[in-house]
Amino acid sequence: MTAEAVLSGDLARKVIDPHAYAEWDGLLDTFDHIRATTPVAKVQPDTPGLFDPFWLVTRYDDVMRISKDNAAFLNNPRPVVFSFNQAIEFSRAATGSNMLVDSLVVFDAPVHPKYRKLTQEWFMPRNLARLEDELRTLAAATVDRMLAQGSEVDFVKEVSGPYPLRVVMQILGVPPEDEFRMQMLTQQLFGGQDKDLSGTGMDQMTPEQVVQIVAGAVKTFEDYFAALAEERRRNPTEDVASVIANALVDGQPLPPRDMAGYYIIVATAGHDTTSASTAGAMQALARDPEQYARVRADRSLLPGIVEEAIRWTSPVQHFMRTAAEDCELGGQAIKAGDWLMINYVAANHDPAQFPDPRRFDAARSPNRHLAFGAGAHQCLGLHLARLEMKILFEAILDRVAAVEPAGEAARATSTFVGGLKTLPLRVTPA
Ligand code: HEM
Repeated sequence: MTAEAVLSGDLARKVIDPHAYAEWDGLLDTFDHIRATTPVAKVQPDTPGLFDPFWLVTRYDDVMRISKDNAAFLNNPRPVVFSFNQAIEFSRAATGSNMLVDSLVVFDAPVHPKYRKLTQEWFMPRNLARLEDELRTLAAATVDRMLAQGSEVDFVKEVSGPYPLRVVMQILGVPPEDEFRMQMLTQQLFGGQDKDLSGTGMDQMTPEQVVQIVAGAVKTFEDYFAALAEERRRNPTEDVASVIANALVDGQPLPPRDMAGYYIIVATAGHDTTSASTAGAMQALARDPEQYARVRADRSLLPGIVEEAIRWTSPVQHFMRTAAEDCELGGQAIKAGDWLMINYVAANHDPAQFPDPRRFDAARSPNRHLAFGAGAHQCLGLHLARLEMKILFEAILDRVAAVEPAGEAARATSTFVGGLKTLPLRVTPA
């Protein structure tokens, strides 16, 4: 056991500052430095009470170990970091829980597997195969719309934003006319740290005001999905909304808060994430015309593009765990109750696992990245994410002969789910 490794001051701030996550190269430099010097380090606030100290874990092997040991490292009570303790206090006052939403990511065994089992089969490839035709139609329409804009487009606005949103809304039975509302609500939940995404000026607000907005978004989601569930109980279809609405746990229907939490986790986890990895793939290909031409000529390279894009972008940037027992990690003494950040961006850029990690390499093999997590909570939608990206890129490769950057891309200001919020491109139709 070595002396306690502590990060404070500037380094600590960068780990928790949403603006640091908007500057990708700088962020990767920070994580490279921390991983090489203090791979498991206690992050301490400068101002006491600003946030609770936590262990930052940056090495691939350590993040994998924690993710897979769901008995020793719990999701409950706090699976994501709030920058401010007041936010947690407000949430407790509003809902009696540290989290505004109770969902799969907050539950541990024995509750978690019961809830997870309800939709696990629905998200498996053999069931998703039913969606392929619909996805192809949607992808083709999305590419048509992009090409109709002319030769210069913002790929995020035209393609990587709307396409995954429609996919997830379709499986949840949300009609197109309600989509914009759903998107605004998601951005209030996830993008509240970014002034362009939240559209509410939330970046200027006090933590208490931010949590009020978030609580409002949650309530709106809850009401919306309560009505949808009622409809699906009366008229079940084959969508995942019907599975959730009619599910039984221990012989009982889901309590309203848990049912809403289930819809919300699928609605929110399913689109900003896939949007970020899709935009990242396109950015990488636009910067490398030769790789674009290669994959256009040889579609067997496409799954590699998709997988590498997911690693390279790591859209879910962290989750938190709480130690259930004392243990040793990277030479540090972790105590029961300690809070840990498993940082997927850092783990997926660990040179011990991924040679030349900043390079986008569609042929990278092996590519056992952690962008979908691992263990009991591994992303429920990972097969859907891969499938929808593959189908979209097939449509793009069919219809776009060449693509190049047409200006500065910008990343979202967010510590949790992050990625490009604009990607100007010049496209040449096939
Ligand atoms: C590239 C796209 C995506 C990425 C990078 C991603 C990433 C993640 C990560 C890192 C986790 C937590 C894993 C862990 O704790 O070990 C997660 C959980 C989850 N994801 Fe995804 N995700 C993506 C797409 C999707 C899609 C399309 C859906 C559904 C439509 C989805 C639904 C979920 C759900 C429901 C969970 C919670 C699972 C649980 O706690 O048991 N995700 N995802």
